[in-house]
Amino acid sequence: MKNQLDLSNRHIIVTAGPTREWVDPFRFISNPSSGRMGIAIADAAYKLGAQVTLVHGHVESQLLDGKPYTLLFAGTTSRMKDVVLELLGADSVLIMAAAPADYTPVLMSDHKIKKQQGNLVIEFERTPDILLSVRDKKEKDGYTELITIGFAAETNNIIEYAKDKLTRKGLDFICLNDISNAKAGFASTSNEIHIFSKKGEEKVIPLQLKESVATEILNYTLS
Ligand code: CTP
Repeated sequence: MKNQLDLSNRHIIVTAGPTREWVDPFRFISNPSSGRMGIAIADAAYKLGAQVTLVHGHVESQLLDGKPYTLLFAGTTSRMKDVVLELLGADSVLIMAAAPADYTPVLMSDHKIKKQQGNLVIEFERTPDILLSVRDKKEKDGYTELITIGFAAETNNIIEYAKDKLTRKGLDFICLNDISNAKAGFASTSNEIHIFSKKGEEKVIPLQLKESVATEILNYTLS
């Protein structure tokens, strides 16, 4: 029988769920990520003995009830970047399963924007890319043992885009999620993942509940 992976000497930082970028005090731009995949990875890592910190965006509170590991809320992409960078240690593992919003309004109105005649035009600017900031910190601080694992949520040219993110974001592994497949999407309880490594290896984790996908991801990437 295969020995169970032992993560008892590792600090694993997992991010989960969507961030929100506020247009005014009542409106935001976000995405339909549930956070389930990231939470399942945090649960699995904890069961395998890791010291786990889950940095979460706006996920349903019942999904977080009673968790035995550290939970840190980061509501916006910029805040999530700051929290993640602060947590990173030289030999941490970072698993970025969150779906940070990619754009934020250039100006947030401090009052509710009232309806007017005609169209409403809002200008958005890019939010920081958390994994690019982590890549830069890894290089600058010489964190050669830091392992970074990203997710790629794609609908088309899926393998090409995932491999591009693996290289561009300086990742050790990328988990590709085909979000055009309703059974393996953002809000689903199941998932099918292709993992690509920076060494050019590939592993398919067939469609199954996110809980068992999580354990397989950890087994493949951290064994
Ligand atoms: N990610 C990040 N910072 C962001 C956006 C995404 O670190 N501002 C991370 C995600 O958590 C994921 C990986 O980057 O691990 C890829 O996210 P994805 O949404 O697939 O890609 P993007 O980089 O946002 O690019 P695009 O939206 O153009 O596909």
